Amino acid sequence: MNIRPVRGTHDLFGEEIQKYNIIKKIVSTHADFYSFQELKTPIFEFTELFSKPLGEHSDVVLKEMYTFKDRNDESITLRPEYTTPMIRAAISNNILNDLPAKLFGIGPMFRRERPQKGRYRQFNQINFEIFGVKDFLADLELIILAHDILKKLIPSTDFVLHLNNLGQKENLSDYKTSLRKYFNINKNKLSSESFDKIDKNPLRILDSKDEADINVSNNAPSIQEFINNEDKIHFEEIKKSLKLNDIKFVEDQKLVRGLDYYCSTVFEFKTSEIGAQDTLLGGGRYDGLIKALGGPNIPGIGWAAGIERISMLMKINKKLNNHIHIAINNEKFKTHLQKIMTYLIKNNIPYYWNYKYNLKKSLTKANSLDANNIIIIGENEFNNNFYTLKNLRTGKQSELQIDEIKNFLNDKS
Ligand code: HAM
Repeated sequence: MNIRPVRGTHDLFGEEIQKYNIIKKIVSTHADFYSFQELKTPIFEFTELFSKPLGEHSDVVLKEMYTFKDRNDESITLRPEYTTPMIRAAISNNILNDLPAKLFGIGPMFRRERPQKGRYRQFNQINFEIFGVKDFLADLELIILAHDILKKLIPSTDFVLHLNNLGQKENLSDYKTSLRKYFNINKNKLSSESFDKIDKNPLRILDSKDEADINVSNNAPSIQEFINNEDKIHFEEIKKSLKLNDIKFVEDQKLVRGLDYYCSTVFEFKTSEIGAQDTLLGGGRYDGLIKALGGPNIPGIGWAAGIERISMLMKINKKLNNHIHIAINNEKFKTHLQKIMTYLIKNNIPYYWNYKYNLKKSLTKANSLDANNIIIIGENEFNNNFYTLKNLRTGKQSELQIDEIKNFLNDKS
């Protein structure tokens, strides 16, 4: 039998799982600081939760959903994103009775895309949503939160915030009509992929990376003409406040997002440091979506970030240098080793031993993991009931009674 992973999936272990856990921790700390509550939803839902809201003509719905019939013939889909399940859960559990609702979640999503660097078929997302707030301060708070989290996780990465204003749904619909007209006039100049999108999804032609499409899009009607005054003011307030908060951004009128539910503010954090899949985080407003899913008529806004893409840029200290390493040269001294292990556990001192009765091998391992300290157990230590603690940075050795170890380490740290 040839057992192999399913294409586009990956296992998290070693450095990757360490990074994943750091991300989870930082996200939870920030969520708590900004007062978001965690919400975990099932990884599968009824297909209809996704098909209409994400857009019947969007790539995700047309090509990427993992959909199957359950035994009772109901159509089930592995969640391709978190926003709609969060709304479903908020409605199912009466969370929307107390507004605003600020929710976050972390977990796996599934999209059957063509795998490449930074793009998987099962990947993990961080997701933040605010339900029930129209005020531009919600947009601002979410963008600042996103910026803070990215700065904390990948401080040396150059990432840029792209911003756009899509206006209200009705204005967007007028804009699409105008785009269709324009693209139809220029249809012979478009790539075949964009040609197919003229009727169903003309907005997506704007973010095509094909050179011919870019040339046509450059002269396409601008969305600005379709945006009402209220939305213009909302957007201006966001930009003004971002400047006050020292968050750099570029206004990007080609930023349309891949899912259909967006309106008003949309944004993405992009970087040139991870290749073609350059979006680390994306989101925006989806006023009208909560009502469409059977909830009250309240606005919503949120974002999601790809954990794998952030991981690619993270630098972590993968060494166990804060652990006390142990080296022992003979199995005969095992009881002395047991004593120190019990002591370290009871005193909450992290330790590492490579299960080898071989001083040299344990020392080599300690050095390779960049350890600060190692406890050495040999004949002398065993016979005279003490431990030698060697500081691998200075080379200094100290002979200690077992109950002196904790204070000794604390004094030195
Ligand atoms: P999205 O832009 O489809 O938005 O995905 C958000 C992020 O998830 C992307 O920027 C990327 O980092 C990551 N991502 C997406 N697809 C993949 C993949 N195949 N492999 C690895 N990473 C991927 C949403 O999902 C919206 N629900 C965001 C949102 C929340 N809007 C409002 N609230």
